[in-house]
Amino acid sequence: MNPREFARRRRALMRMIGKGGVAILPAASITIRNRDVEYPFRQDSDFQYLTGFAEPDAVVVLVPGREQGEFLLFCRDRDPARALWDGPRAGPDGAVSDYAADAAFPFNDVDEILPDIIEQCDRVYYTMGLQTEFDAKLISWVTELRQRGGGTHTPDEFIALDHLLHDLRLYKSRSEISALKKSAKIAVGAHRRAMTHCRPGMYEYELEAEYIHEFRSHGVECAYQPIVGGGANGCTLHYIENNKLLEDGDLVLADVGCEYDYYASDITRTWPVNGQFSTAQRELYEVVLEAHDAAIAKLEPGRHWNEPHDAAVRAITRGLQQLGLLKGNLKTLIKEGKYRKFFMHRTGHWLGMDVHDVGDYKVSDQWRLLEPGMVMTVEPGIYVPDLRSIPKRYRNTGIRIEDDVLVTRAGNEVLTAALPVDPDEIEALAGSAG
Ligand code: GLY
Ligand code: MN
Ligand code: MN
Repeated sequence: MNPREFARRRRALMRMIGKGGVAILPAASITIRNRDVEYPFRQDSDFQYLTGFAEPDAVVVLVPGREQGEFLLFCRDRDPARALWDGPRAGPDGAVSDYAADAAFPFNDVDEILPDIIEQCDRVYYTMGLQTEFDAKLISWVTELRQRGGGTHTPDEFIALDHLLHDLRLYKSRSEISALKKSAKIAVGAHRRAMTHCRPGMYEYELEAEYIHEFRSHGVECAYQPIVGGGANGCTLHYIENNKLLEDGDLVLADVGCEYDYYASDITRTWPVNGQFSTAQRELYEVVLEAHDAAIAKLEPGRHWNEPHDAAVRAITRGLQQLGLLKGNLKTLIKEGKYRKFFMHRTGHWLGMDVHDVGDYKVSDQWRLLEPGMVMTVEPGIYVPDLRSIPKRYRNTGIRIEDDVLVTRAGNEVLTAALPVDPDEIEALAGSAG
C-alpha cells in the first residue's frame, strides 16, 4: 500500500475527530500458541489501516492540529541482540523516516509521555474492551490526571474510536479495491487448482493442500481457516477438520480465501467429487445458483443492505417448494422463515481487511443503503438435513456458492467472476487435471 494512502486515511480520521480530540490505538499483541511457540503475528486491522506499521508493542496517537506533530507512534526500540533472532525492528527513528510519524518514542515511555498529551485534549477517542491491559493503563492515566488537581485539565469525553474508523473502512479506496482484486484473483486460481485436482479417494486435507500451495506460491496466506467438507460435512457451516475421505458420488464444499496485503477474499464453490452432479445434486445446485444470481442483481447503489438477502431467500424458498422440500404458500413459507431449516445464515457480509469486515449494517435502525465502494460477499446456500421426512437423494447435501462483489456507480462488479458457477462449467473443471 502506498504511504500516501495511510496519510490520507489519517487525515480523514483526524477531520472526523477535530481539534481538541486525541485518538489512541494500540497495536495487536503477540499470542502464544503453546509454551514458547507464538502464532504468526498479524497486525490489528485498524492499526494497520492507519499506519502500515506491522509490529507489536506499539501505539498510534493522532492529535489533530497539534503543533509539535499530529501523528505520534510509540514502538519498540531497535535491539541488535533480538534482531539476531527475530530480524530488525523499525525503532522510533524508522517510525519517523519510513512510516511518516511526526514524532516517535520508545514503547516503554508511553506512561510518561501519553498522559501529558491527553491532558491537552478535551475528547479521547478510544475503543474499550479490546486490549484489557491497555484499557487499564488509560483509565489509570486519566484517574491520575483528575487526582492531580491544581488546574490540571482532564478530557471530559470518551468516545468510541472504532465507530468512526469502521465507517471509513467501509468505503474502499482505489488502492484497496486493487488489493481486493489481487486477493480475489489468487483465490480464484487456488479454487481452479483444487477443482481440477479433485478426485474420489482423496482426503479433504489433500484438497486443502492445493489451496495452500497456490497461496504460498503467491506469497499470501489463508484469510481464515479453510473449510473443505465432502458429503455431509458440507452441511457443517464451520467445518474445519478437513480430515475425511472424499467419496465418489458426493459433493465437496470448499470455502477458502486468502489475504493479500491485508485484504481478504472469501470464495465458496461446491462441485461433484467425481466430476458429475447427480440429478438431485444438480437440482439443488441450480436453486442455490438462482439465489446467487438474484442476490447479485439486487446489489446496486440505492438499494438496502437487505435486498440481496431477501432476493436469495425468495429464490431458495421457491426452489425448495418446487422440489417438494417445502410445502405451502410461498409468501407464508417466507414469512414464517421455513427456509431456515435449509438456509440458516445471512446471504453476505462486508469484506475488506477482515473477512467479516467492519461497518454497520443498519443506520438508525434502518438497513443501510448500498453505496459505491462497499464490498461484500454473496453466499447463499442449501444444507439439507439428515431427516427421514426428506427424500433420501437430497439428504446430507451441502451447497454454497460465494462470490465477492464491489458496489459500483453503475451497479456492481463481481471480483471473483473468473471462477465458474455454471454447473456445466463446474463439471468440466472438476478433476480435469487427470
Ligand atoms: N468464510 C466465512 C464466510 O464465508 O463467511
Ligand atoms: Mn466463505
Ligand atoms: Mn463469507
